[in-house]
Amino acid sequence: MNRRAQLVTCGLPYTNGPCHIGHLRTYVPADYYVRFLRMCGEEMVFICGSDNHGTPIVVSAEEAKKSPREISEEFHHHFDATFRRMNIIFDHFGMTDDPTNHQRTKKIVESLIANGHVYAARIRQSFCTRCGRFLPDRYVEGICPHCESPARGDECDQGCGRHLEPGEIKEPTCLVCGTKAEFREQEHYFFRLSEFSKFLEAYLEGVAGTSNARNYALGWVKEGLRDWCITRTLEWGVKFPGREDLVVYVWVDAPIGYIAFTEEWAKKVGRSWREFWCGESTVTHFIGGDIIYHHAVFWPALLQGAGLAPSAAIVASGMVKIDDHKFSKSRGYVVWTNDDYLDQGFSPDYLRYYLLSYTNHTKELNFSWKVLAERVNHELVNTLGNFAYRTLHLATSGYGGVLSGEVDPAISHEIRRTIEEVTAAVKAYEFKEAVDRTMTLAAFGNTYIQTNAPWKLEKIDREAAKAVIRNCLQITKALALLVAPAMPDAAQRLWAMLGFEDEVFSHSLNEGLDPLPESQLPKPSPLFVKIEEKTLAERETLLQQRVEEAKKRGKKREVLTIEEFSKMDLRIGRVLSAEPVPRSSKLLVLKVDLGDEVRQIVSGIAQFYNPGEMVGRDVVVLANLQPARIFGIDSNGMILAAGDAASLLVPLREVPPGTKIR
Ligand code: MSP
Ligand code: ZN
Repeated sequence: MNRRAQLVTCGLPYTNGPCHIGHLRTYVPADYYVRFLRMCGEEMVFICGSDNHGTPIVVSAEEAKKSPREISEEFHHHFDATFRRMNIIFDHFGMTDDPTNHQRTKKIVESLIANGHVYAARIRQSFCTRCGRFLPDRYVEGICPHCESPARGDECDQGCGRHLEPGEIKEPTCLVCGTKAEFREQEHYFFRLSEFSKFLEAYLEGVAGTSNARNYALGWVKEGLRDWCITRTLEWGVKFPGREDLVVYVWVDAPIGYIAFTEEWAKKVGRSWREFWCGESTVTHFIGGDIIYHHAVFWPALLQGAGLAPSAAIVASGMVKIDDHKFSKSRGYVVWTNDDYLDQGFSPDYLRYYLLSYTNHTKELNFSWKVLAERVNHELVNTLGNFAYRTLHLATSGYGGVLSGEVDPAISHEIRRTIEEVTAAVKAYEFKEAVDRTMTLAAFGNTYIQTNAPWKLEKIDREAAKAVIRNCLQITKALALLVAPAMPDAAQRLWAMLGFEDEVFSHSLNEGLDPLPESQLPKPSPLFVKIEEKTLAERETLLQQRVEEAKKRGKKREVLTIEEFSKMDLRIGRVLSAEPVPRSSKLLVLKVDLGDEVRQIVSGIAQFYNPGEMVGRDVVVLANLQPARIFGIDSNGMILAAGDAASLLVPLREVPPGTKIR
C-alpha cells in the first residue's frame, strides 16, 4: 500500500456561468477515484477551486454590470454549493483571485525570470480603435490561421482546437463593439517553452494517467513548440512582476492555483504544500479533453522551469455531448446541474452513475434523458435495487435479520475477485469497467438468489435456505461498500438497512469479506425509484424547446453587408397625384415623380391619409421592388412608412425628386 499521500486536483471552473453536466465529467470521476482509494486505505487529498481571471469573466461581468470580483464570488459559491449537492466533496475549494494565489504566482513567475526562462519582445496585438484598447484573448473574434474556421482570440474553438498566440488570429474583430480591429505593437513577456521540448518528451513518456493526454501532448511536442506569451493588457488578474499595466495570462495563474489551494489546505491542517509540489508525494490532475495542452505541455514546463516537481498523472476525460450535439450554451445543447437536474428532484447518484459508466473515460460521452431513464430503470432499479431488496426482505420477514453461520467459500471467492478487479480498474482510470464490474456482482447475486430460491427451499430445508440468505447478505454488504464511491447516498441507505449505524465511508472495501454481525435488521425500503415516462417526456420537451428558442434567437441576429444593403434602390419621390382605389378602404393609387420617370404605386395608407394631403409630398420609395398587380392596378414600387399607423418616412431637408438614399 502507498504510504504517502496522493493529491488529486480537478480542472478549475471559470466563474462566468453556472455548473452544467459537461463540467461534472471532470469532478464526478475524480470524486469517485478519491473516495475509492480512501476505502482502499490510501491517504488522498482532494483539491479544487474556482478560476476567476481571464477575459470571459471580465466580459461576463461587464454584461452583468458587476465587478469581476463580485461575479467571481457569486459563481464561486454556486460551484461550491453545487458540488456538495452532487456529493463531490473537496478538502479545500479556493479562489484564484485570493491573496495566496496572487503571491504564489508572483513568486513562481519571479523564479521563472530568475532562471532565465522569460524574455520581453515587441509583438503585434489586436487593437480596437473604437474602444481604445488592446483586445486580449476572448475580446477578439476572427479566423483561425491554421484551419480557417471562425475562432476566438486565444483558441480555435470551432475548428482544429489549437491554442492561438496573441496577434495570430486573422481578420480580428472586437467582440464588444464589432469594429474591425487593427494590429498594433506592444511589449509582452514570453516563456521559453521551445526550450522544454526534450524535457517534455521524456516527461510525457513516463507520466501516468490516461493515454489520450500523453499521446496528444507528445504529438504537439513533436510538431515543435513555440514560445508562449504569458502577459496580457488587462486590469483584472495577477500583475506581472514590475509591470502595473500587464497581468499574467490566466493559464499561468490558474494552474498555479492548484499549488495555492494546496497551501491553503496545508495551513488548515498543519502540513506543507511542498510535500506535494517538490516530488515527495504524487499529484494527479483530472481534466476534460479540451485542456490537455495546458496541463500536459505548458504546466509541466512551467513547474520544471520554476524548480518544482511536474505532476505524476494527468487523467483526461472525453467531452460531454447532449443528444449527440456538441455541448453549446448558445445553441441550447446544455443541461444545467441545478435547474434541470437536482432542482427537479433527481438523485445525484443517478447522474454520477451515468457519467461514470456510460462509456470509457477517454471517450466522448453522450447525454440523453432517455438513456439516463433506461439505465436507471434497468440497471439500478431492476438489478442492484432488486437484489438488495429481495435479500433484505427475505432476511427480515422470515428470519428477523442477519443469520449466524459461515459464508460459502465460493461466494467469498466471488466477492474477493470483484474487489480485486474493481480496484485494478479504478487504478487504471477505467471507471466504466469498475462500475460495470461492480454491477456484475449484483447480477451474480440476482442469479444466485433466483436459482437457489430460498423462498421454496425453506419449505424443504430451512437450514439450507438460511445459508443462501446469509450468502446474499454478504454479497449485499460487499455491494454497499463497492458502490459507495459511485453512489454515496444509495450506499449509505443500504448500509443502514444492513444494520450499521455509522458511515459507510469509515470502512474499507475489504470489509466486504468480513462476516456481518448477527443482528436484527430494520424493514427494508427500495433503494432506487424508477424514472417515469411522464418525467422523461417533460425533460425531453424542455431540452427541445431550448434548442428551438436558440435557433430563433440565432436567426434574429442575421446581419447584412453594405453590399447587400445597397442592392435596394431607395429614392426620394414626389407625389404628383393620389386617388382612392375603388372597392378598397385601405388603398391609394399614387403617381410619383422619381426624377427621370413617373411611377404608379399602390399603397396601403388610405386609412391614415386623405388623397388630398398626399399630393406634393416627398416620400421614400423602394424603386426596385418586384412589380405587382393589386386590385387590378399595376404597382411599381413601395412607399416606406413606419409602425401600425403608417407614419411616412420623409426627408428632413428638401432634395430633388429621384435623389438616391445611401
Ligand atoms: N478554468 C479552466 C480550467 C483551469 S485548470 C487550471 C476551464 N474551466 S471550465 O469551467 O471551462 O471547465 C472546468 C472543467 O470542466 C474542466 O476540466 C473542463 O475540461 C471540464 N469541462 C467543461 N465542459 C466540458 C464538457 N462539455 N465535457 C467534458 N468536460 C468539460 O477549463
Ligand atoms: Zn483552427
